[in-house]
Amino acid sequence: MCGIVGFAGHHQAAPILLDGLSKLEYRGYDSAGLAVRDGENPAEVVKAVGRLKNLAEKTDEGKALPGCFGIGHTRWATHGEPSRTNAHPHVSGNCTGSGSGKVESEVVGVHNGIIENYKELKEKLERHGYVFYSETDTEVVVKLVDYYYKKYIHTPIDAIAKTMVRVRGSYALELMFNDHPGEIWVARKDSPMIIGTADNETYVASDVPAILKYTRSVYYIDNLQCAKITPGEVHFYDLNGDEVTLEPTEIKWDAEAAEKGGYEHFMIKEIYDQPKAVGDTLTSVIHDGKIDLSEVGLSDDELKEISSVTMVACGSAWHVGMALQYVIEDLTRVPVRVELASEFRYRNPILDPKQLVIVISQSGETADTLEALRLAKKHGIKTLAVVNVVGSSIAREADNVFYTLAGPEIAVATTKAYSAQLAALYTFAVQLGFAKGTFAQSDYERYISELNTIPAKISKILEDKERLQWFASKFAHKHDVFFIGRGIDYAVSLEGSLKMKEISYIHSEAYAAGELKHGTISLIEDGTLVIGVLTQNELYEKTVSNMVECKSRGAYLCGLATYGKYEVEDHCNFVTYVPTIDTHFAASLAVVPLQLLGYYIAVARGLDVDKPRNLAKSVTVE
Ligand code: G6P
Repeated sequence: MCGIVGFAGHHQAAPILLDGLSKLEYRGYDSAGLAVRDGENPAEVVKAVGRLKNLAEKTDEGKALPGCFGIGHTRWATHGEPSRTNAHPHVSGNCTGSGSGKVESEVVGVHNGIIENYKELKEKLERHGYVFYSETDTEVVVKLVDYYYKKYIHTPIDAIAKTMVRVRGSYALELMFNDHPGEIWVARKDSPMIIGTADNETYVASDVPAILKYTRSVYYIDNLQCAKITPGEVHFYDLNGDEVTLEPTEIKWDAEAAEKGGYEHFMIKEIYDQPKAVGDTLTSVIHDGKIDLSEVGLSDDELKEISSVTMVACGSAWHVGMALQYVIEDLTRVPVRVELASEFRYRNPILDPKQLVIVISQSGETADTLEALRLAKKHGIKTLAVVNVVGSSIAREADNVFYTLAGPEIAVATTKAYSAQLAALYTFAVQLGFAKGTFAQSDYERYISELNTIPAKISKILEDKERLQWFASKFAHKHDVFFIGRGIDYAVSLEGSLKMKEISYIHSEAYAAGELKHGTISLIEDGTLVIGVLTQNELYEKTVSNMVECKSRGAYLCGLATYGKYEVEDHCNFVTYVPTIDTHFAASLAVVPLQLLGYYIAVARGLDVDKPRNLAKSVTVE
């Protein structure tokens, strides 16, 4: 949560910082601020509550803030309500009013992360005469840097290194020191930060899309490292203040991938990106009709040894795990557990040395998932990360990485990354079964050819979106929606329900269809919308029966079935179809109409689809 940007160069910083922040707004959007420095002059701070456009208006699109050095922040409030005072940047000195204006302090900074011991540090600083104006942990860390800067020998590196030793928690921190014009200092632990250089200029950001327009050459600063940023140069240091060398990485994403490309919202663009995201992910490991996971670091011999699989993730990535548990167990007979990362990390799990822990994460930065990965590693368990963002913390720390090739995903509600994660893990499941000899060569070939049909089948579903658009406009006023299904259809229901509630704010729940009778059915009233997912042939009739039970109590039924199952129309008020596919892989198709439904309902309700209230895409706090 929260996005940070920085720029040190020869162009005007503010417009570049605002542009970068606009690509990071998915990380938080309750307030934003800039600090820009013009030569030797002290930095000037401007903050605004609400969306970034307020800050852009206030600074005349950045033109009102001259200077070629600056830092910026878009906030998702953790400590302290969204307000101008709590918005970043924060300063080491006193601050009156809203905190905008010329900085009369030594240090000004922005921060993404959480300082866990901020209360204790605040008390210490108060004892030394510091007066606090905000409720944020960031103000504490900025003042702590100032304290050490003054206490020691007035060198930023010592002040920062001392601060890093004292603070507990996570941070991607950018600082400017009044005594050191021409420099920006950064420090990082467990929150994302990349640094790019091009044409004698340097860029800092929480995520790649913010700087993609300017450079593809980026450094991934390591945990517990800090750096001095000057135009076109970066010097990295460890906690002892010794310089360390890092090599830049070339980013392969193209700049257009982080733009809307003519679509009204990122979400609908990303829904339409899915055939490519899935196709690219599949072809990264399917060569000449065979799955080759050697680049992922999993040979068939290693696969053969796996005794069980635990998949750990949050949000939609957890839903991917929920779908895959059915697929992996059925294809391989290897037991699977699926765990929410926030639960797994605190429950002292029993881990068998021969098991594989798979963490699934689009951003590669989700705090709970990262900690779950570390816990598994601490137990000496082999880990595989399925991650979209190259060079992210999870990708760097896992033993093996399977990159999904979805490209940058900007909308807060994930779509294409979810689909790419499914595709990646299908290939894992099929290869695991093949290595273990749980099915015949002919089945192996059939599974692979079925996988290869997914992109075209998703495109076909997308061609048929008008009916869903119509249905969405009819149901945009609903207060409650229930999604039901069994097996893989239950896993898809979980994702469909999340899409609905997160962007349309309609109360929605997903239930295993057989479980509905154990309480939830009492919530069904006249006109309640019940969406039944019906792609699993063996479970079809059972789920239809559960749907009919709801209809008898007044529900309006929407069925999501595969082509050919037309008799479902005898029971449902509305039916939408997806192409047939081997049922193991049906989640990839069934999810698409549900994504469209969530999207069109949110649009019909006039909501901000890409940035739903209270949410952030990258959840770097636990
Ligand atoms: C947030 C996002 C979800 C995402 C979840 C896990 O809640 O809004 O779309 O599924 O985090 O994120 P990750 O980056 O780990 O996949």
